[in-house]
Amino acid sequence: MFIVLEGIDGCGKSTQAKLLYNWLKKKHDVILTKEPTESKIGKFIREILSGSISVDPKTLSLLFTADRYEHLENEVIPALNSKKIVVCERYYFSTIAYQMAQGLEREWLVNLNKFALKPDIALFIDVLPEIAVKRTVTGEIFETCEFSKKIYKNYLNFNLIRINGKQDVKGVFEDIKEVVENKIQNSGSVN
Ligand code: TMP
Repeated sequence: MFIVLEGIDGCGKSTQAKLLYNWLKKKHDVILTKEPTESKIGKFIREILSGSISVDPKTLSLLFTADRYEHLENEVIPALNSKKIVVCERYYFSTIAYQMAQGLEREWLVNLNKFALKPDIALFIDVLPEIAVKRTVTGEIFETCEFSKKIYKNYLNFNLIRINGKQDVKGVFEDIKEVVENKIQNSGSVN
């Protein structure tokens, strides 16, 4: 089973991904992973996000997508084939929401990511940009309120399972658990 957590910067997805991982691992074989990854491509992306290197938004989209391809081939698909649950922070929804906010066409981004396996569960942690931006700490290039507002709007156009992120950490996690528990029960297996 492939579970993806999405949302704007500062929405609390890292905290929730860790909680979900720790909860699932009590009963299942599970891996916690994220995009951008820790690979060389991912590290190059981080340099761009820090603002020290500047590239065209299309180049950045291609880099995120290349990182995703490697991630799927080397980590996600092998884990799923071994019947593990994969919890992944960010996926192609991020490329579409963020790089559209940089001015790129949705169709171009969707076509670029057509190879990517569809997740079984895609959660959107819904926190308003004005609140989320106060929680951001890294100073990366997309962590501004104006930019987050555009990304937030783009996320609303996807068909993701919306989790009310205005609750406290425990409340958000209870909602996530409910969705995941139902899916595991209904699928009869984790794969
Ligand atoms: P993170 O803050 O979740 O580690 O993600 C790094 C930043 O990269 C965050 O601002 C979201 C952005 N991003 C994109 O712009 N496109 C993508 O495809 C991905 C995966 C992340």
